[in-house]
Amino acid sequence: MKINFAALSMPEKGSVVLLIAQGRKMGELTRQLDSQTGGLLTRAMDMADFTGKKKSFLEIVAPEGLENSRLLLAGIGKADKLDESATELLGGEILGKLGGKFGKTAAVVVENIEGMKTETAQICARLALGAKLRSYRFNKYKTAKKDNDKPLTSLSLRTAHSTLARKAFKPLDAVADGVFLARDLVNEPANTLYPAAFARRCEKLKSTGLKVETLNEKAMKKLGMRALLGVGKGSERGSRLVIMRWTGAGKDDPAYAFVGKGVTFDTGGISLKPGAGMGDMKGDMGGAAAVSGLMAALAGRGAKINAVGVIGLVENMPDGRAQRPGDVVTSMSGQTIEILNTDAEGRLVLCDALSYTIDKFKPEFIINLATLTGAILVALGKEHAGLFSNNDKLAKNLAAAGRSSGEKLWRLPLGEAYDKMIDSKVADMKNIGGRFAGSITAAQFLQRFVGKTPWAHLDIAGTAMDSPKTAISQSWASGYGVRLLNQLVADHYE
Ligand code: BES
Ligand code: ZN
Ligand code: ZN
Repeated sequence: MKINFAALSMPEKGSVVLLIAQGRKMGELTRQLDSQTGGLLTRAMDMADFTGKKKSFLEIVAPEGLENSRLLLAGIGKADKLDESATELLGGEILGKLGGKFGKTAAVVVENIEGMKTETAQICARLALGAKLRSYRFNKYKTAKKDNDKPLTSLSLRTAHSTLARKAFKPLDAVADGVFLARDLVNEPANTLYPAAFARRCEKLKSTGLKVETLNEKAMKKLGMRALLGVGKGSERGSRLVIMRWTGAGKDDPAYAFVGKGVTFDTGGISLKPGAGMGDMKGDMGGAAAVSGLMAALAGRGAKINAVGVIGLVENMPDGRAQRPGDVVTSMSGQTIEILNTDAEGRLVLCDALSYTIDKFKPEFIINLATLTGAILVALGKEHAGLFSNNDKLAKNLAAAGRSSGEKLWRLPLGEAYDKMIDSKVADMKNIGGRFAGSITAAQFLQRFVGKTPWAHLDIAGTAMDSPKTAISQSWASGYGVRLLNQLVADHYE
């Protein structure tokens, strides 16, 4: 879908969206239109009991005296409550109404309405972002009935500050592209998105100014990454580690690190998962997708930060060569791990990726994202991702970014008693902690590899895939994490 910003005027043809605030408050042009048409809008609102309440819409078909095919009145709620995040959702809702019988193009008239606290240029840009996020589709594998719902192909936003709005949208557009990349990666099936294919997609991001490097199994073996490599042993597809770097600050300024779990398919390995719903495990690389999308977004908008994104890419398959329950592996850190369940593989991938990132980049903080445990779904459902951290300030900043981006987080505890649960009789630790507190013991496992570096682990098993539909996220993959971490960076670290 194309988005453009044009000067403020009332479009005389086609489909037009007009914003109405609660109490039927309108902007100047809308009021003029109402009076020029002898109170057409007011009469329609009267008949439909439309007050401008949030999420309410009123459609006026073939309005008498106008050449427009359709007018859509969009209730925006209280004008002073229309902040950036509410505006994004509004943009998504509006787009949800458009297309189909409204035709392929439409214009939204964005005027100042009494009481509005956000500048119209910002409102315009956020509406555009919400509309763009809503427009995402994954139908590359549909050969027939593609776009049954006749989506909008072009959206025009009309504002008195079109140049400012266009400028404000530019970085948001880059973030939306990052979200789309993450969604595309999570939606892509595992027969086409295996570790090397994922790495190739990352290599393509070089065009955005990112430095991208890929390590193959030989290079990882040399580094001693036997925990990560053990997970890929049953797969025909070689494992990879991808390192993406963005230098948006000074060369000697510190770096901030993001690490992602990229299990391109998780069968469980020898500890095979049950069949029902196993197809969802093509999305077990949601952490790696979020890191890739974030790095693309930071580069795309030229963020003033030095960031490094590291993703561990493996496929977890059962096979004669696969690792077994009971095996012991030595991680890159030197710590040994007894593998009691080959389905608890994400932590094995992450521990070596964390060690590598800390050793090599000595980052100011390290944040990892992973579709790590089914238990996080039991605890938090699909509303919040789990947040674990050894640093209160980082945790606080993350939770705040969660609230303002709408990609919410809920902090869960860590502690010595939980840590004990992963002590092993034969090695330094085991990779499962037993029946209880499954998400916490997984986090304790990761914590053993980060030392004193400020660290946060986001368990996104409930939020990255099979996502509830919202105004701005309609696909199976949500792209969770990209907007959250972009917000964190923008608010606190650049
Ligand atoms: N990839 C899964 C976690 C998962 C579950 C992600 C549901 C998305 C939706 C992970 O590798 C896993 O299998 N975890 C096990 C851990 C257990 C064996 C300790 C789990 O959660 O059951
Ligand atoms: Zn698993
Ligand atoms: Zn997994």
